[in-house]
Amino acid sequence: MTKATAAAGLEGVVATSSAICYLDGERGVLAYCGHDIHDLAESATFEEVCYLLWHRRLPTRSELGDLQTEFARARALPEPVVRMLRSLPPGHAMDAVRTLVSALSHYDPDAGDDSPAASMRRAVRLTVQIGTLVATVGRVAAGGAPMEPDPVLGHAANFLYVLTGDRPSALATRAFDVALVLHADHELNASTFAARVAAATLTDVHSTVVAGVATLKGRLHGGANAEVMKMLMAIGEDADDDRVTAAIKSMLARKQKVPGFGHRVYRTEDPRATHLRQMSRDLGTQAGNSRWFEISQRIEAVMKTQTQIDANVDFYSASTYHTLGIALDLFTPIFVVSRVAGWTAHVLEQYANNRLIRPRAEYTGPEYPQMFVALDDR
Ligand SMILES: CC(C)(COP(=O)(O)OP(=O)(O)OC[C@H]1O[C@@H](n2cnc3c(N)ncnc32)[C@H](O)[C@@H]1OP(=O)(O)O)[C@@H](O)C(=O)NCCC(=O)NCCS
Repeated sequence: MTKATAAAGLEGVVATSSAICYLDGERGVLAYCGHDIHDLAESATFEEVCYLLWHRRLPTRSELGDLQTEFARARALPEPVVRMLRSLPPGHAMDAVRTLVSALSHYDPDAGDDSPAASMRRAVRLTVQIGTLVATVGRVAAGGAPMEPDPVLGHAANFLYVLTGDRPSALATRAFDVALVLHADHELNASTFAARVAAATLTDVHSTVVAGVATLKGRLHGGANAEVMKMLMAIGEDADDDRVTAAIKSMLARKQKVPGFGHRVYRTEDPRATHLRQMSRDLGTQAGNSRWFEISQRIEAVMKTQTQIDANVDFYSASTYHTLGIALDLFTPIFVVSRVAGWTAHVLEQYANNRLIRPRAEYTGPEYPQMFVALDDR
C-alpha cells in the first residue's frame, strides 16, 4: 500500500469546488460570485451580499425588498431563547452565541423538513436571528434589558439599535454595514470548511452553523480581532511611537505572533484591510479620538519594516469596533453576524451537490503489528 503523506494544515490542498468565493492570494483579489470586494464594500449593503451569496447574483430592487421583508419578519428571537440567554452564567460571549444558535433549532418552524426550500428558509432566518442574538448577548452582558428590533431599520442599523438602544448615526450604520459585507465570506476558511464538513453528513443547517461558530471562536481565526484590541490596550492609548515600536519588536523577538497580521492565502495586503483601515480612520476623526488608529498605523509600519507581513481583516476591525463603542467580548461574535451568510451559502451549495467529506490521515503511530499483552501481564 502506498503511504499517504499529510499536507500540514491542508495548506495548498484544493478540497472542494465552489461557485461562491474567488480568492487570489498572489494578487490580493477577493470576489463574491465574481463581484470584487472593493465594489461591494463601496456600494452594497449586507442584505444585497446575502442575496448574492445565496443566489450567485445581485438582487433586483423587488427581490431585495422581498428579502428585507423576510428579514424584518424573522428578526425577533423566540422568547424562550431570550430567557435562556438571561439564565446563562457570565462568560465569553462566543460561548453564549454557540449555545443559543443551537437552541434556536428547537424553535425552527420547518423542523423535520429537509427540502432545499426549507434549508434556504433556515439560512435566511438564522442569518437575521443571529444579528439580534449577538446584539442581545452584548446588551444583556452590559446590564441592559433585551430590545425588540425595529422593523424599519436594516440589518446593520438594527444590530446597533438592539445593542445600544439608540438609533445609530448614518456613519456608524454604514461602517458596520461595510464590516458585515467584508466578513461575509472567505472561501474555505477554517469555519466554513467545518460547516461544509458537517453539511456533507447531511445534518441540518443549524448544526452546520454551530460547527462554524465553534470553529470561528479560536484565536487563530475569528478570535484574532479581540486579540488585536487586547494588544492595543496593553500598549496603551497614550503610548508614543517609541513605545509602540518597542512593544512590537519585543513580541517578534519572543517569536510571538502579532495578532491581525499574516494570512494563509494572501501574499499581498488583505483587500478587506484596505476598507477597514479607512473606516477606522473616518470613525476616529468623527469621534474626535484617532489614537487607536494612529497606534495601529504605527504597528503596521513596524511590522512592514521588521517582517514584511501585511495586516489582515482583523487588524483594523479592532479599532473600528472599539470606536463604534462595541465591547471587546463582542468582537468575535460580530464576525458570526456576518459570516453566517457565507456559511449558509456554502452549506446550501454542499447539500446541492453532496459527497461525504472523509479524507485520510498519514499514520505516524507505533509500528503495525504490535503484540497484544493481556491486561494482567502489562
Ligand atoms: C493567520 C496565520 C494563522 C497564518 O498562519 P500560517 O499560514 O500557518 O503561517 P505561519 O504561521 O506558518 O507563518 C509563516 C511565517 O510568518 C511568521 N508570521 C506569520 N504571522 C505572523 C504574525 N502575525 N506575527 C509575527 N510573525 C508572523 C511566522 O512566524 C512564520 O515565520 P517563520 O517562517 O520564520 O517561522 C498567522 O499569520 C497568525 O497566527 N496570525 C496572527 C493571528 C491572526 O491575525 N489571525 C487571523 C487571520 S485572518
